[in-house]
Amino acid sequence: SIARREEILRHIAGLPQYIQDDLAVIREAASEMGNQVYLVGGFVRDLLMNMPNNDLDIVVEGNGIELGRILSKKLTCDKLVLHASFGTASLIFCNGTHLDIASTRREDYDFPGALPVVEESTLREDLLRRDFTINAMALCLNEDSFGDIIDYYGGFRDLQQKEIRFLHNLSFIDDPTRMLRAIKFAVRYEFKLAKVTADAMPIALKEDVFAKISAERFTEELILIYKEAKFQRMGRELIRNGIFKAWFKADYAWNFEEAESVGEQRSLTERWLISLKNLDSNEISAVLDRLTLPKSLKRITLEYLRLKQALKLEDLTDLKNLDELLAGVPLLLFNILGSDDAYTDPLKKYRLLREGIQMKTTGKDLRQSGVREGPEIGSILKQIRLAWLEGKIRTPDEEKRYLEILLEKNDRADCIDNKPI
Ligand code: CTP
Repeated sequence: SIARREEILRHIAGLPQYIQDDLAVIREAASEMGNQVYLVGGFVRDLLMNMPNNDLDIVVEGNGIELGRILSKKLTCDKLVLHASFGTASLIFCNGTHLDIASTRREDYDFPGALPVVEESTLREDLLRRDFTINAMALCLNEDSFGDIIDYYGGFRDLQQKEIRFLHNLSFIDDPTRMLRAIKFAVRYEFKLAKVTADAMPIALKEDVFAKISAERFTEELILIYKEAKFQRMGRELIRNGIFKAWFKADYAWNFEEAESVGEQRSLTERWLISLKNLDSNEISAVLDRLTLPKSLKRITLEYLRLKQALKLEDLTDLKNLDELLAGVPLLLFNILGSDDAYTDPLKKYRLLREGIQMKTTGKDLRQSGVREGPEIGSILKQIRLAWLEGKIRTPDEEKRYLEILLEKNDRADCIDNKPI
């Protein structure tokens, strides 16, 4: 309707200037090529809800590779990635945002979760291949029809009714990761799953559709969820809908219970580790085996696992042992270990003591005072650190006196060691 078009033009006029400039460049490039071009997917969905979204997703009725090449010259982009066999191009800008270009194309799946086989097709078919009606609208960018919405599948109605609805009944079979996406969008926008869509989930899970998809694809969608502000509610929905149980083949005690305001402030790593906090070591290992986490996240999870196991065996009142285990541990891991009730008090106490250390002596000082190069240096430094932790040293002056005594002892030991037989 005219009113709707005017509202859309108003939303477009409210976009950040650099996005409006990019849209103008895209429109010009496409009309120079004589092609129709559309904004599609999440950008259109968010525009209609007047929500910010910086990732442009466009479909061109023509050669997407060529348009990608032209745009990469006209828009200063960091990287151009071309997928000739799919007819798609991605421009990645230095601020991390994307412009994805698809040519009207048809995607077919040889088997569930397989990479799509592509053929030329129409916009209508391109949109039909998408996940949900709210993600399957197009907005015309060409001059004569700028701002027109193409909505073959009732996306606008579903936006108004606040429903996540897939486009056809085999959607979750074609692409089981869409079950995670359905939950992500429903929680993010506070929408409901349409009844047909909700009903299809247990059926797909019963068919064991996840058996057909790679750990990479599941992990990718899962990480996207952990990056969302409302990731905890999404996590609870993944549990409630049996998605985690179907993927991990076990009912683990995932933890998505922290106060939302606290959870939101956390980094991805913290969110991830806290969600594992009620799992035992074997369970965490099993979870890791089922995912392909980014290297750094996997490394820190393994370190967390190692410390969790080590702390179990440790006398938590023995400051020396605690210090040996935890001295070099990053604060992030330290805090997460401390969130386990069994360790909260001892770790808090150790941390306060550790923060009180104002140790000045270095290995170089010791060498200058005549201590031989070798294990003695490390041993003296450790003794000083421990004396600080135990409160035997409380000031730099006390450290100096303590060091003098240690050095004397060391000299005497040296004499004994060097005594001719
Ligand atoms: N898409 C799909 N099925 C998938 C992934 C994506 O149909 N498994 C389609 C949807 O139309 C989606 C578009 O590809 O809108 C772009 O995907 P993506 O960038 O992942 O999603 P957005 O909708 O942009 O969501 P977000 O706001 O989370 O970035």
